Amino acid sequence: MSAVSTTGGPSIASLGAARAAVTRSPSGELVLGGMSLAGLSNREVNLDGRTVRIGTPTYVYDLDGMAREARELEAAFEGAPHLVAYAVKANSAGPVVRTLVAEGCGADVVSGAELLLAMRCGVVPDRIVYSGVAKTDDELDLAIGAGEAGIRAINVESVEEIPRIAARASALGRVARVTLRINPGVSEDQIGTHSYIATGHDEAKFGVPLASLADAVSALEAARASVRLVGVTSHTGSQLTALDAYLASARAVFETARSLRDRFALEFVDTGGGFGIDYGDGCPVRPADFIRAARTIQREHGLDDLALFCEPGRSLVGAYGLLIARVIQRKVAPGDPPRRWMMIDAGMNDLMRPALYQARHRVVPVVFEPGARLSPYRVVGPVCESSDDFGVHDLPEGELAEVALLDAGAYGYSMASRYNGRPLPAEVFLRGGAIVGVHARKPITDWVDDRLAAG
Ligand SMILES: Cc1ncc(COP(=O)(O)O)c(C=O)c1O
Repeated sequence: MSAVSTTGGPSIASLGAARAAVTRSPSGELVLGGMSLAGLSNREVNLDGRTVRIGTPTYVYDLDGMAREARELEAAFEGAPHLVAYAVKANSAGPVVRTLVAEGCGADVVSGAELLLAMRCGVVPDRIVYSGVAKTDDELDLAIGAGEAGIRAINVESVEEIPRIAARASALGRVARVTLRINPGVSEDQIGTHSYIATGHDEAKFGVPLASLADAVSALEAARASVRLVGVTSHTGSQLTALDAYLASARAVFETARSLRDRFALEFVDTGGGFGIDYGDGCPVRPADFIRAARTIQREHGLDDLALFCEPGRSLVGAYGLLIARVIQRKVAPGDPPRRWMMIDAGMNDLMRPALYQARHRVVPVVFEPGARLSPYRVVGPVCESSDDFGVHDLPEGELAEVALLDAGAYGYSMASRYNGRPLPAEVFLRGGAIVGVHARKPITDWVDDRLAAG
């Protein structure tokens, strides 16, 4: 299922959608969350008594779409005990996190800052899990010290981490609740996603290898006074578009949990995140399909008395955000066919996925004049790197003021940087077809002042 449907317009015209995040109006304007994006960047908003023009590059998010996505996933649990721990790293904007929390999500965090952010957005510590291979002592202290009993679980990623957590817990006079994150050793081929986001294979730095399970159990037993094992987890990889690798990991989680139950009072099993979205090439499975299949296997393992946790990031937010960029100019070099570039004001610093993972985001006009002649253009940004390249897209030959890079709601702004002295992009949040929040871009002088701060 695609999150895009259009009536006319390049590259997206042929896609039908059972439920669309982005549509095109009969007059050719791109619509997100019930709002036309034509002219959005020229709108002025009042922020803290200042009038600011939204401008470009700007991320725009449909909070209603994200809420719908969360509700659909919640429904897949059919009332069974569970926690959808939203992976905050995908999109950590306050309105996004708060929207998902209002739909019943907890949080999966990977740093002390994300932990503090999740709590500021209303996630109670008991609904937070914390993954990461190199948590500092300060970060462990935040997790163990949160609320009355610390967060729900720190995901242990190595045998060596167990005595470190135990030492921090005893220093704080607390018992830390932990999950064992296993590395299920699924083959990279089976995971089938970009190697930079495949995590559940033998060469990955994540999780305790199954071959080290006995050592982990000994370390957990030795640390019983200050560490309590409450769950087993794994995360296979991200942008999974088939069930098999996820379910192979889930089986490993359930088998491990079954083998540990008589020694530890387990409360839940956690099959991680990774549910793929449709970036334009289709995605035959929905997040709920992963959960329904995992629940079946959980029951087969006799573990249905344990809660089932999952940690989705991308699938909750990815399709419901896009990045609007201004067309700066075109460049055509002679050849047969001629080489055509379209230079836009968004670069790899604003949306890093293409440069980092060779990811493709569809680039479409914000306003498409029906009948306009299309030509293939290589869409590139202003950053001084050849990898600042969003790929070749069919775009109109005539007037074109702005384009939108679709499906940019996950790992977009959260990965953005100020490389080349460029400000972080602005963000606009939509609900009910109206703007409900704006995160304005900072003036370029902020970067200059920062770089000169040391003298
Ligand atoms: C441990 C863990 N949980 C959850 C996620 C979220 O993954 P996704 O955004 O693909 O759902 C990741 C992503 O890298 C992860 O490493």
